[in-house]
Amino acid sequence: MPTSITVNGTEHAVDLPGDVPLLWVLRDALGLTGTKYGCGVAACGACTVHIDGEATRSCQVRLADVWGEITTIEGLGNPDALHRLQAAWIEHQVAQCGYCQSGQLMQAADLLARTPDPSDDEIDAAMSGNLCRCGTYPRIRAAIRAAAQGA
Ligand code: FES
Ligand code: FES
Repeated sequence: MPTSITVNGTEHAVDLPGDVPLLWVLRDALGLTGTKYGCGVAACGACTVHIDGEATRSCQVRLADVWGEITTIEGLGNPDALHRLQAAWIEHQVAQCGYCQSGQLMQAADLLARTPDPSDDEIDAAMSGNLCRCGTYPRIRAAIRAAAQGA
């Protein structure tokens, strides 16, 4: 029997085994390839999505265990109304290869939802589980600070 999940405001009936990781449901069944596979063991943050607004590693959640509404990078903003973090990411030219950046943005959005004006230490603590092989950390921090301050 299909499992019903809601992603970016749309309900989907997914006919896959309950032990399939949410990451692969999003990418392979729903075609939402903005969410990336990096490690598969909760060590990189590339697969970060929100479940009921909470940053969650989608490689670690089984389809059967999804507990709320999912937001992916495709649902964070839209071309007419970018999320303020997406606008700051562009302004600060954060991305290099870009592979990690959807996870970075979803993690940062969770941070600002909980801590609207984070200190550098709070930014570093919140973002420490999101790895970037290209070393964009200084620009990520600057963009989060700018988005928090409405710059
Ligand atoms: S792929 Fe999920 S944390 Fe790395
Ligand atoms: S921008 Fe390349 S891994 Fe982060």
